Amino acid sequence: MTGKELPKGVAVVTGAAGGMGSATAQQLLAAGWRQLLLCDLDAGRLEAVAAPLRDGGAEAQILAGDVANPAFPARLLEALAGRALGALVHTAGISPNMGSAERILAVNLDATVRLVEAVRPRMAKGAAAVLFASNSAYFPMPTEAAQAFTQPLPPEGSAALLHLAPSPELAYPLSKLGVRALVKREAKSFGERGARLVSMSPGAIDTPMTRGELPNSEVARRMVETSASGRMGRAEELAAVAVFLCSPGASFVTAVDWLVDGGHTAAMGF
Ligand SMILES: NC(=O)c1ccc[n+]([C@@H]2O[C@H](COP(=O)([O-])OP(=O)(O)OC[C@H]3O[C@@H](n4cnc5c(N)ncnc54)[C@H](O)[C@@H]3O)[C@@H](O)[C@H]2O)c1
Repeated sequence: MTGKELPKGVAVVTGAAGGMGSATAQQLLAAGWRQLLLCDLDAGRLEAVAAPLRDGGAEAQILAGDVANPAFPARLLEALAGRALGALVHTAGISPNMGSAERILAVNLDATVRLVEAVRPRMAKGAAAVLFASNSAYFPMPTEAAQAFTQPLPPEGSAALLHLAPSPELAYPLSKLGVRALVKREAKSFGERGARLVSMSPGAIDTPMTRGELPNSEVARRMVETSASGRMGRAEELAAVAVFLCSPGASFVTAVDWLVDGGHTAAMGF
């Protein structure tokens, strides 16, 4: 660590009622972020995360809503009420068994594009936005899909990509490849404000998301078993990296994706 102070402002966590989001919120408070804005679909689940954080000294505000609703970014800015953003950790997302290809692209990619656009002017000096991608975006894809993000998305959003990802299993890695491309493309505009934009790609992590998915996947089980770590990751391990990426110690880390996967991707030969 450089010993520099944390950036001024609020730390926002999306997907804050989920596995990695709730762990991130807890670790942000432990790292000294006292003003937290926690976002997820359901107010009850958010309160369950926020209440113990308040007991621990946080000013933890909640915002329930669908990140894929085009009105969401405006609601987020309203909740900030003029305060700057010191950190954004965007974990909200859905996996292939949670929705159609269209919905996966809308939640994981279109919502992320809009969020990045909306928060950019509110980022404090030294602030960082950390977007959750996935190691599946490192797996081979058909050439046309792999090249889909060499141009900015058309105004109608990912609807124009649906033909490249007709199934949820294809839409998920495509959506996360789009997140990585977004970071590469937009980090410069964050840099012009003295802020950073990065993504993180988890491997298989033991959270509610994978409990629905991994037991049915022989490929995923083999990937985990033959990897350097030999196990799934824990939400806290990913949260620790996200919190570091938001810290002054990561001041030269931007425009990049960090693969945090216990060696899962390497075990697949990618
Ligand atoms: N768990 C893994 O193995 C794994 C691997 C690679 C990438 N990821 C990515 O990491 C991120 C976090 O995953 P997790 O394992 O913590 O999942 P999780 O399901 O435990 O948490 C995700 C949270 O996002 C919320 N959410 C989903 N759709 C939303 C929407 N439209 N609006 C607002 N909130 C919404 C959910 O309610 C949930 O609380 C996701 O983006 C996921 O794609 C996870």
